[in-house]
Formats: sequence, structure tokens, C-alpha cells
Amino acid sequence: MTSSSYSSSRPQSPPNVVSIAGIDPSGGAGVFADIKTFSALGAYGCGVVAALTAQNTRGVTGVHTPPVEFLRQQIDTLFADVTLHACKIGMLGNAGIVATVADRLSNWQAANIVLDPVMTAKSGDILLESDAIAALREALFPLALIITPNLPEAGVLLGERMPETLREMRRAAERLREMLPTTSERWVLLKGGHLPGSESTDLLFDGERMIELPARRIDTPNTHGTGCTLSSAIAALLPQGQSGSPNLVEAAVRAARDYLHRAIADAGLLAVGHGHGPVHHFHGLNR
Ligand SMILES: Nc1ncnc2c1ncn2[C@@H]1O[C@H](COP(=O)(O)OP(=O)(O)OP(=O)(O)O)[C@@H](O)[C@H]1O
Ligand SMILES: [Mg+2]
Repeated sequence: MTSSSYSSSRPQSPPNVVSIAGIDPSGGAGVFADIKTFSALGAYGCGVVAALTAQNTRGVTGVHTPPVEFLRQQIDTLFADVTLHACKIGMLGNAGIVATVADRLSNWQAANIVLDPVMTAKSGDILLESDAIAALREALFPLALIITPNLPEAGVLLGERMPETLREMRRAAERLREMLPTTSERWVLLKGGHLPGSESTDLLFDGERMIELPARRIDTPNTHGTGCTLSSAIAALLPQGQSGSPNLVEAAVRAARDYLHRAIADAGLLAVGHGHGPVHHFHGLNR
């Protein structure tokens, strides 16, 4: 996997980006939120449904996964026709889904894979069966250009309690990077949204450079889908970067975080549900 930049026979066209993730009917997370993000950031959005949820801004009341044969058919049918310039992976649900996605993306040599190892919803509801975690590490980590765990997910992946300080985050980012191939460019974005404090700091690490990305924490209940939005923003922006730039991934992550920050700040303009409301994906429009 390389971070080779977007190229197309029609260079003026937007890049095609696919989300392989769950459906959140409230539109704040999952494939619907990912496609809003792709669209807001100038990419053409495709979506493969890896799981259905019954969900609102307060919580998840049910999960239903498609037969793996049909998931395979969705991926194969899409990739057989559409050139995909980046791929965001979100909620996968169980080990069979993880294995199928890994097998097909490997077969199609998918580029610019952004892997958000989703395990729980903002409400705390479980979105990934525990036996799928090993499959995620073994089958999907090798394919990802960048993984974007939050702090509880980092704890689960490392088999230890979640990092609680910036110092513990640094160590966790280093150990997570060791789970990715060492022979090519790979990145860990460890998200600090779950730490208390006036700043929400993420760490971006490629095995050499530990880049600290602080941001003012916005005091709001409207953080449903922040992780989905960030990972899909990175996927939308990666193929639009400067071809050959050594800072392609860093630039995409920085721009994705700026976009998300504005989407969180403007979330109060929406009135969706009574729990953790969605962020405002189209904050630049409709003012
Ligand atoms: N209140 C906030 N203000 C500013 N930035 C925030 C806030 N909450 C989260 N973020 C940022 O949002 C991004 C997502 O981080 P977070 O830790 O919330 O991910 P997540 O837990 O995977 O989200 P989700 O619940 O949507 O899956 C990170 O860049 C984080 O720093
Ligand atoms: Mg998340």
C-alpha cells in the first residue's frame, strides 16, 4: 500500500472514495455521515453496507449484518466498475465481515485505506464482537495506510487499560505502530477525544515522527460521529493531496481535523434528536 496520490484519466474529476461501514439511520455516523463528508470535501462518495443498525442520537437498539456472500458481491460489483482512489473502513460488526472485507480489498489492491477500528458507539453500545478484534489486527491492519483508534479502542487493541495521559498516548501510538507493517509508509492517528481537559489532542505517528495535534475542546453534546467524520475526511482528502509530497498523510490529517472542528463548532445549528447530536457536515453551506 502506498500513499500515491490521486491520478485519473480525467484529472479534473473528483476522486471516487468508498465507505465500507455501518448504517446509522440518524445520519450522524456510519456510511451516511461518511458520504456527507466526502461530498463536503470535494470527493465522489460510494458506500458498501457492512452492517445495519437501529440507532438514534441516544443509542443503538439493534444490529443486523448482511450475509458475507452479499457483502462480497457489493464490494466486487462496485470495484469491477468504479476506480476507487481511497477507502474508509468503519463499523464491521463481526469476524466474518472483517475477513471478507480484508479478502476483497486485498484482491482489488485498494489504495489509500483509512481504517477506523470502530468498537463502540458514542453511547457506549458495542459495535464489534470481541472475537473480531484479532481478525481486525491480523487481516486488515496489514492493508491500512492509516489506522484511527480512539483511546478505548487503543486499550483493547493493545490488551491494556486505555491511555489516560498524553505520555501514555505517546507510548500507545508507538506500540500500535508496531502492529502495522514496517516495510512501507504506515500511520497511526491516536485520537484524544476521550481525555478530559480544555484541549483535545490527537497524536499522528509514522514510526519516526510523533506529531502532536492539539485543538481547543468544544463544549458540546453534539459529538455523535466525530470519529466517522474524521476518518472519512482523511479518505476524501488523501487522493487530493500534492502528488509525491512527503507530507501527504500529515496534510490530509491536518485538513481533516480543521474540517471536523468547524463541523463540531456549528453542530448547534442543527436540531437532530435529543442525545449526542450529529456534527454539521455542510457547515460551509446553508448559513
Ligand atoms: N468536544 C470536542 N471538541 C473538539 N474536538 C473534539 C471533541 N471531541 C472529539 N474531538 C476530536 O474529534 C476527533 C474524533 O475523536 P474521538 O476520540 O471523539 O473519536 P471517536 O471516539 O472514534 O468518535 P465516535 O464516537 O464518533 O466513534 C478527534 O480529532 C478529537 O480530537
Ligand atoms: Mg469511533
